[in-house]
Amino acid sequence: MKLAQLLFTQGFGTRRECAGLIAAELVAIEGVVCDEPDREVEPVGLNFSVRGEPWTYHQRAFLVMNKPKGFECSQKPKHHPSVYSLLPAPLRQRGVQAIGRLDEDTTGVLLFTDDGSLIHRLTSPKHHVAKVYEVGCKHPVDAVQVARLQAGVLLHDDNETVRAEACEATGPDTLRLTLTEGKYHQVKRMVAAVGNRVEALGRSDFGGVRVDALAPGAWRWLTEAEAEAMTRKPLPAGAAP
Ligand code: URA
Repeated sequence: MKLAQLLFTQGFGTRRECAGLIAAELVAIEGVVCDEPDREVEPVGLNFSVRGEPWTYHQRAFLVMNKPKGFECSQKPKHHPSVYSLLPAPLRQRGVQAIGRLDEDTTGVLLFTDDGSLIHRLTSPKHHVAKVYEVGCKHPVDAVQVARLQAGVLLHDDNETVRAEACEATGPDTLRLTLTEGKYHQVKRMVAAVGNRVEALGRSDFGGVRVDALAPGAWRWLTEAEAEAMTRKPLPAGAAP
């Protein structure tokens, strides 16, 4: 692939702008400045820098952010800054989008990709990817609430029962809930349905991806194993693994 084309695929501007960056000696390959837009390069695994900032070629963008409180998951936020403002310009330019949304006051694992069909698949009700939520409640959590959340509760304004795949009390007023659907405000509405109230909410896992060492607002590329697990097609119900 030509170097200018590679920069274009990675979100560094129009083809003309990418050729301009290279001609202006702002691009280095493996530490050596290259001023030839038409230089042929092998993209897979290529390390390059633009204006001194290091990048690695990724055919598809697939990343995780530790979403901080006070940010909206919308491209056009209404009351708070957007999570997209925390991503570097090339990622925004190549069209990464959040896979589902978290509320403004929810923290934790938020995935992004530029693969539209993957977003569609991972957010579809048919794709039962597990998401784990750590919930701080206003009132003490008891065994009846835990049992009801696992058995299924009827949400206000909804005529379907939703149940937690798993639920455990992690302290006197904290819960860990595993959900495989993604209904609007689902955790808050489920906890309200059993007579409690969510006061703090964080997502600690999405399909095996966690944010352990990431500071709030920071992001990282998914590892190959994480991306592979996430993009694997779900087995049809009842099929042997
Ligand atoms: N459920 C909620 O209520 N809020 C979130 O942000 C995510 C799940």
